[in-house]
Formats: sequence, C-alpha cells, structure tokens
Amino acid sequence: MFSRTSAVAKSVSRNALATQRRFASTKTIREALEEVIPAKQAQLKQLKAHHGQAVLGDIKVENVIGGMRGLKTILWEASVLDPLEGIHFHGLSIPECQKSLPAAPGGKEIIAESMLWLLLTGKVPTEAETRQLSRELAQKGELPEYIKILIDSLPPTLHPMTQLGMGVAALNHDSSFAAAYERGIKKSEYWTHTLDDSLNLLARLPALAARIYRNAYNPGKPIPEINADLDLVGNYVNMLGYGDNHDLTEYLRLYIAIHGDHEGGNASAHTSHLVGSTLSDPYLSYAAALYALAGPLHGLANQEVLRWQHNMQKEIGSNITPENIKDYLWKTLKSGQVVPGYGHGVLRNPDPRYMALQQFCDTRPDLLADPVIQLVKLTYEVAPAVLKEHGKTKNPYPNVDAASGCVLYHYGLTQFKYYTVIFGVSRALGCLTQLVWSRALGLPLERPKSVSMDTIESLIKNP
Ligand SMILES: CC(C)(COP(=O)(O)OP(=O)(O)OC[C@H]1O[C@@H](n2cnc3c(N)ncnc32)[C@H](O)[C@@H]1OP(=O)(O)O)[C@@H](O)C(=O)NCCC(=O)NCCS
Repeated sequence: MFSRTSAVAKSVSRNALATQRRFASTKTIREALEEVIPAKQAQLKQLKAHHGQAVLGDIKVENVIGGMRGLKTILWEASVLDPLEGIHFHGLSIPECQKSLPAAPGGKEIIAESMLWLLLTGKVPTEAETRQLSRELAQKGELPEYIKILIDSLPPTLHPMTQLGMGVAALNHDSSFAAAYERGIKKSEYWTHTLDDSLNLLARLPALAARIYRNAYNPGKPIPEINADLDLVGNYVNMLGYGDNHDLTEYLRLYIAIHGDHEGGNASAHTSHLVGSTLSDPYLSYAAALYALAGPLHGLANQEVLRWQHNMQKEIGSNITPENIKDYLWKTLKSGQVVPGYGHGVLRNPDPRYMALQQFCDTRPDLLADPVIQLVKLTYEVAPAVLKEHGKTKNPYPNVDAASGCVLYHYGLTQFKYYTVIFGVSRALGCLTQLVWSRALGLPLERPKSVSMDTIESLIKNP
C-alpha cells in the first residue's frame, strides 16, 4: 500500500515539476496573494485609524432575540450577499463568473480552482494559473494512512456528515499552523501557515469525502487514484465512481464552485470564523463549520428537499398539476413544517444559484424529461404565491437547495444522506479563504457581548 501510494506521489510530483517548468512565468496562488495582501492591510489600518467610531447601524431588541438577523458585525472579504441581487464574489455575479472564470479542459462550467483563486485574491486567474493550482491540489490530495484507518473504522451507518467532520478534524495531526504556533512564530507569518493548511485540506477533501461514500454505499469497491491531469472536482467525481459521467462532473463543478461561499453570516461560515479567531487551526475550524452545515435549516436542507419532493410525487402520482402541487404545499404548511428549499435568512428574490442550476437543467433534454425535475420547475411556479398567502416567510422564493439534490438523483447519486457532504466539500472554498484573510489582517478573537432578558429590560428603562 505504501509503495503504491509513494509511486503515485512521485508520478504526481514529476508531473507537477514539469508543469512548474511549463508555466514558469505563471504566479502561484501564494505569490498572487502576497501581491494583494499589503493593500488590504493598509485599507484595514485606515479604517481602524480614521473610522473606528463610525456607526454602521442600530442594535434592536428584535436583533438580539431574532438570531442577529441583519446586524453588520462580521468582516468577510470573499463575497457579499445582496438581498435582491444575490451573491457576488469580489463584485462578480454568478453569470459574470460563468463568463470569465476558466473551466476544466473539455468542460464549460466554472471549476473549484478558478473560484478559489477569485475568492482568495480577488482576481480572475488565467487558464495557466488555474491548471497550476489543479496540479498543486492533485499533488497534495492523497489521504494520510491514519485517516484511511480512522474512516474505515467508523460504522458505515454513521451519518456521512459526522464522518466528514471527524476526518477533517483529525487531519490537524499534520497542521502546519498548529506546529508553527507551537514553535512560536510571528503574527505576520500566521497567514502563510493558514494557507498551507487550507490548500492541504481542500486537496484532501475529495479523497476523504469519496472514502466516506465508498464505505457507506459501495463497500469493498476500489477507489481510483488521484489523476494529476484532472481538476479537483473531476478527481472527486472519479473517486466517487461516476468519472465516466461527463454531465454529472460538469454539474458538480458548477454546483461546488457557485456554492463555495455565501458571505460570512451564515451558520457554517460564521462558525469557522469564530473558531478560527481562537487561533484553532484551519482543520479544527472547518470541522466545526461542517457540524453547523449538518443542521436541517442550513446544509441538510438539500437532503430534506429531495425527501419532500419524493413524498409529494408519491402522493400526487403521475397526475402532476399546479393544483395538486398547491394542495401538497398547503398540507406541508398546515402540518407546521417548512417548505424545504424555499426561504432564506438574507435573500429576498429567487436565489441566483438556483437559477444557474435550473439553467443547467434547461440545456439538457434528459434532465428536462425527469419527472422530479419537472416537479421542481412546476413547484417554482406555484410555491411563491402559496408562501405569500401563508404570510410567514420573508422570502417566498426558492434557494439553491430547491434544485440541487434532484439533479444528483437523476444521475444516479441517489443517497440523500450524502448530499450535504458535497456541500461540505464546496463550502470549504469560502470558509478557508476567510481564515487566510482573517490571519493576514490580524483579526482578533471574536467576543460579542451577551445580555439577559433582565438586562434588556433595564437597558430599555435606562438606555
Ligand atoms: C432558510 C430559513 C431557515 C431562513 O429562516 P429565517 O431567516 O428565520 O426566515 P424568515 O425570517 O423568513 O422566517 C419567518 C417565519 O417564516 C417561516 N418560514 C421561513 N421559510 C419558510 C418556508 N420555506 N416554509 C414555511 N415557513 C417558512 C419561518 O419558520 C418563520 O416562522 P416562525 O415565525 O413561526 O418561526 C427558512 O426560510 C427555512 O426554514 N427554509 C427551509 C429550509 C431551507 O431551505 N434551508 C436552506 C437555506 S439555503
């Protein structure tokens, strides 16, 4: 096993060396970051020095008891979420990213590497920079032996998200940041070790996630080795056992790239930010984030949506009409449940990520002919009016999860419980990016003030 592994590592590193030579004039992601960090540090210094006392908004009692909705309290560089326009990555909307970010060779969709480059540096990478990053990640992607033993020792019935969090946390055995901190490094060097850990973690996530899938759903099936000529998601799909399905590979490239970051206030992003602020290494910080992602109001919603859609299909049978869907929506709402895949903590319009996935379906006749995907489209026509009439949710429109799972299901990836793991592979792009920036900017320990109800009442009486 060891010799096979090291042979792969050698061949990958030979390829990587060749690539470095071929793209000698190409910047590495570290060099690209080194170029942009000083300007951001200067910007933060200016803000602190000249605008430290500027007011960004009021804190109302409803914010404190309402999950801090709308409070502008987290510094997050990678993306900004506008309630009406949706997500923008350094100013680029999803359609703009689709136009400008490099795809995989032979593919059309954005890939994780080009999105990571944009998130980290704020710049659109060249084709060559993207390929170089793919090779760097492939070179680092092999799982250490102890992680394989750990994951193989877990009951395959343990929820895949629990397994993913455990594997990610245990990868901190090799944390460059933790080791350097113990040696006693300068604060100005924190970000370089955070970047090393972040790239290593991202590189290893596909093999970890694929091993969890194999153990749970295809026990004993060999997992293909990492191919140095493939992008991160190309390798992931290959290791999952679906490498010959080009459309699924392209779908996952798109899904993983556009789902990679959704500003800093969502539960997983906020969790990694908080834990990282204690100077926990990126592995532990992201493991914590994964357990936030595992909640049904957040990442687990994609598995809930498909379950709900299948139940609806069972109940209404082949007679899919707007009236039947409407009745089923009311049945869900009257039983006190939420309609999964609808609503959002910030968005007040249809989610552009949903629109991008729907567009992907619209260009493929096999997807359009799938009854579940037809159901998703029809639900989109009916649900907003029903949710408006119901009158509770502030956003009656679909979010990304309304469409994400049914496409996976169509392509044969039918194990709902696994879907949030794919989200977990994706969201690492944004959470790890911000960890690098938080350390580069020297952000402090996060420590908001809590208040009791008595304190709130006395503050109301004596402001
Ligand atoms: C995403 C979500 C958690 C946001 O929650 P939020 O910020 O509290 O949303 P709102 O402020 O609009 O909620 C106000 C009320 O509407 C309800 N509501 C929100 N979305 C709803 C939905 N899809 N179906 C039914 N009711 C909904 C809330 O439960 C809340 O009810 P309450 O006052 O009885 O507690 C929520 O919309 C939801 O549960 N959606 C379904 C799960 C989902 O798709 N999650 C993935 C998010 S990307």
